[in-house]
Amino acid sequence: MTPGPAHGGLWVVVPAAGRGTRFGGERPKQYCEVAGRTVIAHTLDRLLSHPSVAGAMVVLAADDAYWRDSALVDLEKPVLTCTGGAERADSVLAGVDALPDAVRADAFVLVHDAARPNLAHADLDRLLDLGRADPVGAILAAPVRDTLKRAGDDGGIDRTEPRERLWRAFTPQLFRRMQLARALRAAADAGVAITDEAMAMERQGLRPLLVEGREDNFKITTPADLARFEYESTRR
Ligand code: C5P
Repeated sequence: MTPGPAHGGLWVVVPAAGRGTRFGGERPKQYCEVAGRTVIAHTLDRLLSHPSVAGAMVVLAADDAYWRDSALVDLEKPVLTCTGGAERADSVLAGVDALPDAVRADAFVLVHDAARPNLAHADLDRLLDLGRADPVGAILAAPVRDTLKRAGDDGGIDRTEPRERLWRAFTPQLFRRMQLARALRAAADAGVAITDEAMAMERQGLRPLLVEGREDNFKITTPADLARFEYESTRR
């Protein structure tokens, strides 16, 4: 579908250019099948079935061999693709740059990992409500609940780290298009490795809002995560 002026609503950039090297195996984790569909098809379905989401920009590896066969659901919303880069942050920046012109510089855009297929609409509702009211934007996250240990070189425990006020950053993350592009470009120019969008914004002196989200909005990293999603999808 070709995006026209009507497609200037809320867009989501979906980085899917990772090779899933931590996951092992040939097929990148976003293309593993669960309940007859790929992980990325589940992810896009969750995003595009939300009434506020207008379209998705999926960022693919230059040599992606699986996207065409990934069995997308037929939703009446545009799904565009572009080519990503070596690191996740490079892929996100490429996706933001490739968004249609109808997405204004000050419009909010979402970024959501292709490998995070279990997003609940209620979480996205809260992120949008609170994030759009924030001058900078917001991210879904969850407080750290386990006790944190700092390891020494020998694998022994050096000390226990305080977990108060520590959060685990999830996606989606919600920022204004131009501010996000500027922050990601600044980090790239400085050679700083950015592991999420909020980190790039923080480097600019900005303070995105933490919005508590569900623990089951997990990223598929290991085969055990895939089994967990398999289980979650049978319970829906
Ligand atoms: O590797 P990691 O689990 O952090 O990847 C998170 C998301 O970012 C995945 O959906 C992955 O496909 C994507 N990614 C990307 N470009 C990269 C590396 C990861 O789009 N160079």
